[in-house]
Amino acid sequence: MLKVINVVGARPNFMKAAPVVEEMKRRTREFAPLLVHTGQHYDRGMSEAFFRDLALPEPDVYLNVGSGTHAEQTAAVMQSFEPVIMRERPDWVLVVGDVNSTVACALVAVKLGVRVAHVEAGLRSRDRTMPEELNRILTDQLADLLLTPSLDADQNLLAEGIPEKRIRFVGNVMIDSLFAHLSRAESSVVREELRLNNSDYAVLTLHRPSNVDERETFGRILRALEKITERLPVIFPVHPRTRARLKDFGFEERVAGNPGLRLIDPLGYLDFLRLYSGASLVLTDSGGIQEETTALGIPCLTLRENTERPVTVSMGTNRIVGTDTDRIIRAAEDALLHSRAPATDEKRLPPLWDGHTAPRILDALLEKV
Ligand code: UD1
Repeated sequence: MLKVINVVGARPNFMKAAPVVEEMKRRTREFAPLLVHTGQHYDRGMSEAFFRDLALPEPDVYLNVGSGTHAEQTAAVMQSFEPVIMRERPDWVLVVGDVNSTVACALVAVKLGVRVAHVEAGLRSRDRTMPEELNRILTDQLADLLLTPSLDADQNLLAEGIPEKRIRFVGNVMIDSLFAHLSRAESSVVREELRLNNSDYAVLTLHRPSNVDERETFGRILRALEKITERLPVIFPVHPRTRARLKDFGFEERVAGNPGLRLIDPLGYLDFLRLYSGASLVLTDSGGIQEETTALGIPCLTLRENTERPVTVSMGTNRIVGTDTDRIIRAAEDALLHSRAPATDEKRLPPLWDGHTAPRILDALLEKV
C-alpha cells in the first residue's frame, strides 16, 4: 500500500489533482492518499468553488499560507509543509503543474528523503522571466518520477540531462477532468445569466504578471479588445491580480466605458467550462486554457510571445499572437472567419489526451516501488 501526499495550492492545480485523488480513493488496496492544500489560493472563487465542482475531498491538511512575494510565499509553504512530511512519512509526494507551491513542496520532500512525482513535467516556454518556468525547471530536477503530458516534454527533459528511466509519458490529466465534467457542465446556467443565446461571443482571461503588471502591455491588450468588441461581446472573468491592476493603472473607467467588454468575477470549473465551450473564440494568457480549447476544437489566441505547450499549436487550435494591438486584432478577425472544428474531434487530439491519464499515473507510481 502506497501512502501518497497529493499537493494542491493554486487554481490551476485543482483540475489536475482531482482525477488522481479520485482514482487513488477507488484503488484502496494499493493507495492511501492524503490531500494537502497549501492555501496559496484562498478566495472562494479561486479555490472553494473548484473543490465543489470537481468533487475534491476536503483537504486532510490546510496550510493557509496565503499571498506574498515569491520568496515569502515559497518559504511559507516550505516551513509549513516540512512538519507534515515529518509526521506522515509518505512513500510519495505528488505535485502538479508549476506554481510556487509545486516547487516548494517538492524541495521539502526530496530533502527529507521522500520521493517526488511531478505531474505535467517537462513543459518549457524557454522564457526565464516567467516565474512558472523557473518552478518547472527546478521541480523537474528535484523529482524522482517525471510524468509528461506530451512527447515534446520528454525531449526537453532528456536535453536537460534527466535520465530516461525517470521519465514516463502518461498524457494530459487536465483532459481527464475536462471529459469527466463536460456533460455535468451542461447544467450550468452561466450562459443564460449572461444572456448569451448563441456562440457569437468571445471569452478572455488575463493574469500573467508580464501582461497585467505592465501598464503599457495591459493598455495594448485593452486597445485590441476595444476593436474586437465592435464585432462581438467579450466575457472577461477577472483574476484578483488583474482586478487590482485595473484599479492601480486607472483603467477601470476605460473598461466600464466599453459595454462589449463584460467583466465578471472568476468562475468555478463547471461554469467556466460551460462558458468557453460555447464561445467562438477564446483569448488567454493561461496555460491550461490553451489545452482545454485544443481538446474541444475552439479557436484560441494566446496573448504571450511563447508557449510551454507547443502541441496545442502544432496539433490543436492555438495561435501565439503576443501582445501587439494590431496583431491581436488581425488574429481575432482571422479566427472568427474560419469555422470551428467539431468538438472533441479525435484526430485533432494530441496522443494520450484521452481522459485516462490518472490510471497511468498511478501505475507509474506502483512500478517505481
Ligand atoms: C498563480 C500561479 C500561476 C497560475 C495562477 C492561476 C505562481 C508563481 N503563479 O498566479 O502560475 O497561473 O496562480 O491563478 O504560483 N489573490 C487573491 N485571492 C486568491 C489568490 C490570490 O486575491 O485566492 C491575489 C493576491 O492579491 C495575490 C495575487 O492575487 O497577491 C496573486 O496571487 P499569487 O498566488 O501570488 O499568484 P497568481 O497571479 O494567482
